[in-house]
Formats: sequence, structure tokens, C-alpha cells
Amino acid sequence: METAHAAVTTRLSDYQPPAYLVDSVNLDVDIRDGVTTVTSELALRRNPEAAVSDTMSFNGEGLVIRSLALDGKVLEEGEYRYENGELRLSGLPEQATLISVVDIEPEKNTALEGLYMSNGMYCTQCEAQGFRHITFFPDRPDVLSRFCTTVRADKKRYPLLLSNGNPVEQGEEGERHWVTWEDPFPKPCYLFALVAGNLACLEDRFVTASGREVALRLYAEHRDLDKLDHAMASLKHAMRWDEQTYGREYDLDIYMIVAVSHFNMGAMENKGLNIFNTSCVLAHPATTTDAGFQRVESVVAHEYFHNWSGNRVTCRDWFQLSLKEGFTVFRDQMFSADMNSAAVQRVNDVDFLVNHQFPEDQGPMAHPVRPAEYQKIDNFYTLTIYEKGAEIVRMQYHLLGAESFRKATDLYFDRFDGQAVTCDDFVDCMEEVSGMDMGQFRRWYSQAGTPILSVTSEQSGDTYSLTFRQQTPPTPGQSDKQPLVIPVRLALLDKAGEPVALDDTGLRETVLILREQEQTFQFPVGQTVTPSLLRGFSAPVVLEFDYRADQLATLLAHDTDGYCRWSAAQRLYFAALDRLVTGHGKAEDEALKLAPVLEQVIERAGEDAAQAALLLTLPTEVALGDRHTPLDPSAIHSAHQQLKRALGRALQAQWLSLSENLLATELQMDGVAMGRRQLRNLALDYLAAGEHKEAARIAVELFELPLCMTEELGALRVLVHHRLPGAELALKQFAEKWKEEALVMDQWFSVQASVPGETTVESVAALLEHPAFDWKVPNRVRSVLGALAGNPSAFNTDEGYALFTRALATVDALNPQIAARIGNAAARLHKLESGRQRAFRTLLQGVNDKASPNLSEVLSRILG
Ligand code: PHE
Ligand code: ZN
Repeated sequence: METAHAAVTTRLSDYQPPAYLVDSVNLDVDIRDGVTTVTSELALRRNPEAAVSDTMSFNGEGLVIRSLALDGKVLEEGEYRYENGELRLSGLPEQATLISVVDIEPEKNTALEGLYMSNGMYCTQCEAQGFRHITFFPDRPDVLSRFCTTVRADKKRYPLLLSNGNPVEQGEEGERHWVTWEDPFPKPCYLFALVAGNLACLEDRFVTASGREVALRLYAEHRDLDKLDHAMASLKHAMRWDEQTYGREYDLDIYMIVAVSHFNMGAMENKGLNIFNTSCVLAHPATTTDAGFQRVESVVAHEYFHNWSGNRVTCRDWFQLSLKEGFTVFRDQMFSADMNSAAVQRVNDVDFLVNHQFPEDQGPMAHPVRPAEYQKIDNFYTLTIYEKGAEIVRMQYHLLGAESFRKATDLYFDRFDGQAVTCDDFVDCMEEVSGMDMGQFRRWYSQAGTPILSVTSEQSGDTYSLTFRQQTPPTPGQSDKQPLVIPVRLALLDKAGEPVALDDTGLRETVLILREQEQTFQFPVGQTVTPSLLRGFSAPVVLEFDYRADQLATLLAHDTDGYCRWSAAQRLYFAALDRLVTGHGKAEDEALKLAPVLEQVIERAGEDAAQAALLLTLPTEVALGDRHTPLDPSAIHSAHQQLKRALGRALQAQWLSLSENLLATELQMDGVAMGRRQLRNLALDYLAAGEHKEAARIAVELFELPLCMTEELGALRVLVHHRLPGAELALKQFAEKWKEEALVMDQWFSVQASVPGETTVESVAALLEHPAFDWKVPNRVRSVLGALAGNPSAFNTDEGYALFTRALATVDALNPQIAARIGNAAARLHKLESGRQRAFRTLLQGVNDKASPNLSEVLSRILG
């Protein structure tokens, strides 16, 4: 076996096509306890697109070579080199067949990449570079091959043997059996998958628009068979939607999804055989929250949509990751908007981007949507690639309009079907169809950071003018920034909140396309107006405008744009909170000022309870903290608590009636019912924050007789977060009731780790020692450490730093990818005041000295 090696930097500018292509792969995976033997036969052909060479290198990590043979001739040691994760062969002819036989040990694989075990089943994860842990292969997305895979295992323990494509042959040999699968579509090896296990199946069928019948098979552990209906319904909706919206049909006879408990990410789009984190596919009202249901719907759709945006047309190299991910996120967001409330969906998506991707853009890990370099590609499955990437596609959608955009995607899918391409190829199609010059627009892909758009207004006589200044702050390695194309959707609202005419044609909404650092626009408007800017969040920028409080109230009360209403509420909350943080306000006064505006929102809650809940939710402590440097987590925490308490009191009657009157008597799972539950949980939270004497009673009643997990968990959260009487008992009962349900127990862990306040560090320490805590299950690790990371007043303490860094090292020894993700929680290091910063820095440095390449890339960037 070869030895470990340090991370190296890979650069986009160094891209070279592979010297050889692999036309077909014949795999034989012989699974036995302890050791799995993988035999692969690769049909190699010199790449006509590459410079002529007779040398080829194949990736391979931790493979024990049993034998290598080239065109039937066994290679002796000395006839090949295998070091630093590379097998190099020289003197290759134009075409050749390479047969390798290697041993691997999936039972020992805790990193969960390549072939590994999860709760007694074997499964794979190959994106981005897991296939090299299974066999020798040019593990890069621009090598597309036809796969034929035979899986062999014990018949009794692994009755189910799956791989990509269609089963073509099977047989038995004593206690063992085998199945051969053929995938007719050439694919890069990151889309390879295999499963061997004993699983239950929910089966259904789907007839495509052109009349082909597809078998839909969803697999999970037997005990979870009753949790697959929602995923099945979501899958069928997604299949129909992609036909109607993009004209894309499914292309194989079988579509399979397998649920696994040990998984680093959400889910994986392997051709014909998706593998899902249980958290993204299992759903049942008794065990899954409403948010969980929505997540399942969107992730199932996301992976399904990849069949075209990712699989049929894939990425040339990993720098182009957003080509498939940004586009597919955009597709799943639009799907969810069509399935549910479009306005609520948009606000949720923007909220997520603004609260998670924007901070990434402001921190040490900031990178362009198409990065120029990386050490470990696993670290670049980021919010920037996914969510900002989706916003860039969305801007193109709006710039072209739905009809032209569809023509452009048709062209993209037709032209590049079966190929590995680039982000530029995608934009080329937009440009070609629309005739627009997208040259400047392309900077969105190469320039990192969130642009700040400062807007000022001026009224002079009958002319209202708006001046826009854009500027992108420097990011690591990129100090000079160019102006971007920024579409600003806009309306001007009169005193009554009605949009006024913007020109003499009576136009009431328009899109300004900014291209320069500074631009001014004039409108023939004589009256006082409130600008409704960036409607629908028309570009991923930070918008600065010095709104007066009455203007924000107008927007919140009257704007028809859901995003602008939400953004106005956020501005009001932030202004109040900022004053409390800096000691310039009193919580009771702030609450009194906010109360009348919020009352209006509550009065209208009947129109759309989910939207009301979004408008009434305070920004998080993390978001508030990001506005104040140096970060003083206790001041942030106290300001947040004070305002919440004061609002709890000022609107006590409203919270009480929402808590009681929104109660349903029978369970419904539609959007309206979900919105009402969300609003009621929020109301109960405010009621408890205001120390209302009824809060505990209502929470306990709800906890004891819930209609579904959203109610049960909502009640538990209120009891625990507000330390109400009954909280301890409820935690005990909950754990007893749900001890067999891992996904529910994840919630139990995270409810406790997210209680704001310094003392939570002690509970987190205890949770890490709990018998149900398992360092090898990413979901469980995230449920505690992820929650702690989002809990700044607990995280930013001496004990918090010590516990976090110790835990980080423990995770890193088992699973470097997860450690690196969790390590990102330290990204605000440079914002801490110097005492805290020094203490944390020393601890992080200690971990970094012994870290895996994955974790080390993240920590080194943070430590600077
Ligand atoms: N490609 C997957 C998705 O977004 C994510 C993923 C990446 C899963 C890497 C596993 C490993 O759909
Ligand atoms: Zn994806």
C-alpha cells in the first residue's frame, strides 16, 4: 500500500485533457467479510484531443494490488509505479486493455467515500473522488465510460445487489449470488454506485411523456418502509415537472433511491441509483417536521433533475462544479416554488443565501462560483457553488425571460448531451439564443465576494432620481474587483403603498440593468415615494439604502413583493437590535415602536400564515453578530433576548391567541396547515420569551398530545429553550419514546445544543458522552457540533473553544470531510476581540498541526 501524502494545489489554468480515454469498464466487485476484491477491465484508447503521449496515470487510494495486466500480459513490480495515489503506466499503445485486481477494506472505511458499510449494508459514495478508493481509474469527470458491473455477495445477508442501469444477468454459487448491471449511458466514474444489503422496497411506476414506462424503486431498512411515500410522490412530481418545464424525460427503465444512515452530504445523483442520507428521503408526519417534508421534496427533485443537469451533460473538471450544482439548485427552487407558495419559497431561499452564503463570501473561505484553485475539492461543495451559483442562473433566467431561457437550455442539453463541459459553454447558449452580450455578466463566475450596492435618492420638483454605486470588497487572493451586471427590479410606492407610474406608458415595475460603478436613473415622479428595490431579490447583493422607519413600515405593510416585505422587517429588527447592542436603546421602547407594524402583520396572518411567520421571526444571533466587530457574543445574546422578551410582552395577547386559536384538530400536511403550525410554534416561543404564565401549560399540552412531529418538537423546543417547568421531564420522555428513531434523536440532540447561553457548553459536553452519541454518524455529529456552532454565546467561551477543537480532532481522525465542514465554524476567528481570538487561535493551531489535508486546508485559511 502506498503512504499518505500532503495536499497539493490544483489550478484551473493547468487543465489538460486526459492522455487516454476509457471507452468501457467491466467491474467485478466480490464482497466478502473483511475484504472486497475488485477486478476491473478498462478499454483504453488514446485521446485524439490530447497531445500524443504513451504514458497514462490512474488514480488509486489505499488499494492493495493483487495483479495488473496489460493486454493479457502480467505486469511485474518495476513495470509500473504506484505512489502518491497514482499508478503510472508508460509505453502504452494506441489502444489497450488494463486489468487490475485489488483488495479494499470497506468495513474499516469511516471516511464514507468509496465503498463503505452503513448499518450492515454496503454502499458507495464516489463524488467527487471516491472511485479511486475502489479501483484504479482516471478519476476525473471528463472521462466518460460505459459501465458493466457485477456485484457478488452472500445471498442471505445481502439479498439485494444493485448498481447503475439495468440488471442483465444473475446467478447463484452456493451461499453466494451475483447480479450484473449494465448502464448504457457513458458516465464519469463519480456517478458510479453500488449497494449490497437487505432492504425493503416501495415500488411504483411512471409513464413518461413519450409513453415509456419506468419502474420507481425506493429502498430503505425494513423498519423505515412506512416513511417512503412522500419521497415517492415527490419523485413523480419532479419527473412530470421536468418534462413540462424543460422538456426533459427520464431515460432508463429503472429509477432507484437507496436510503443510508451514514452519509457525508444530503444525497447523490448516481445514474439510475441515487443514494440518499436518510434525513433527505425518509418522511412520516409522526417523526418528520414540516421543514423535513419540504427538504425531502426538494432534495428528491434536485437529485432527479441532475439526471440531465449533471449526468447527461456533466462537468469538464471540478472547477465547473456550479455548472451542475448552481443550475440544479435553481431548478429545484423553481420546482418547489411551483409545488408550494412561490413567495414563501423565494423568501426562504433568500434567507438561506443571505444568512449563510454571504458570511462565507466575507470570510477566509471566500471563493468565486468558478474557483481558480483548490486543495481538496470536497471543501468546495459550498454555499457559494450551490446557492450563489443558483442566483447566477436565476439572473440569466430573468435577463432572457422564461421563453428564451427555455430555448437556451434546450440548446445546451442538445448540443452537449453526453459531454463534459464548462460554465462558459452554458453562458454561450444563453448568449447565442438571446443575442445579448454576456461578456461582462461572466464576471459573476470568476469574481468572489458579495457586491455592496449603495443607493441614494433625490427628489427635485417632478423628478425622482436614484443613484446606484456598486463595490465589491476584496476577498482572499482577489483584491481588485470589477463592476458586475446587476439587474435591479424596482417599483416606487406612494403613501398608500401603491406602485406609481414610472414613465408615461404607465409602467409600474421595471428592471434596471446596472453595469457601471455608478449610475443614476430618473423617473417623472412628483410625489413622495418609497423605493421598493431589488424586488424578488433580483441580484445577490447587499443593498444599502437609508430607509426611514415609516418607509420600512410602508414596505412591510403594503409591498406586494414578498422579498421586499421580509427585507423591510429584517431592517427594522436589525436597527432595533443594533441600538440595544451598542447601548443606545431600551428593549421596551424598541418593542413599542415595532408593535403596531407587527400587529398589522399578525392581523393579516390569515392570508398566508407561513409568510407571516417569516416576517415575525427575528434575525439570528449569528446574523446580528456579523454586524458588530469585534464580536462580543454576550452583548449580542443579551440584546437578542431583551428584544424577544419585550416583543413577547408587548404583543402578549396576540401571541396567546395565535398559540391557542391556530390549533388544528386533525392532521393535514398541505402548505396551509404547515404555515399555521410554523406560526403557532413561533407565537408560543414569543409567549414564553415574554414569560407569560400560560406558556408552559400550552407547551406541555401540545407536547403531550401532538398531531405530528412539528408540534411535538416545537413544544419541546419552547420548553427547553426557555427552561420552563417540565422541560427536563419532556426531554426524558422524548428520548424514551424515540430512542429507536435516529433522525428524531438527532433533533433531540440539537434542541439541547442550541439553547442560547454560556451554560449550554456543559450540556454539549454531556451530550457527547451520551450512549446514543456516535462519532461515526455524520448526522449525529452535526446535530450536536453544528448546533453548537450556530449558538454563538455558547460557542464563544473558553470552554466552548476547548470542547469544539477537541471534538474537531476526534472527527478528523474518522472522517476528514465532515471535520473540514465543521471546521468552517471557526471562520469568524478574525472578528473576535483579541483575548478570545488568541485563545481560540492557539487551540485551532494545535488541531491544524495534526490535521488531515481536508481539515488543514480550511484551518490554514482561517488561521491566515
Ligand atoms: N452532488 C450531490 C448533490 O448536490 C452532493 C454530493 C457531493 C454528495 C459530494 C456526495 C458527495 O446533489
Ligand atoms: Zn446537486
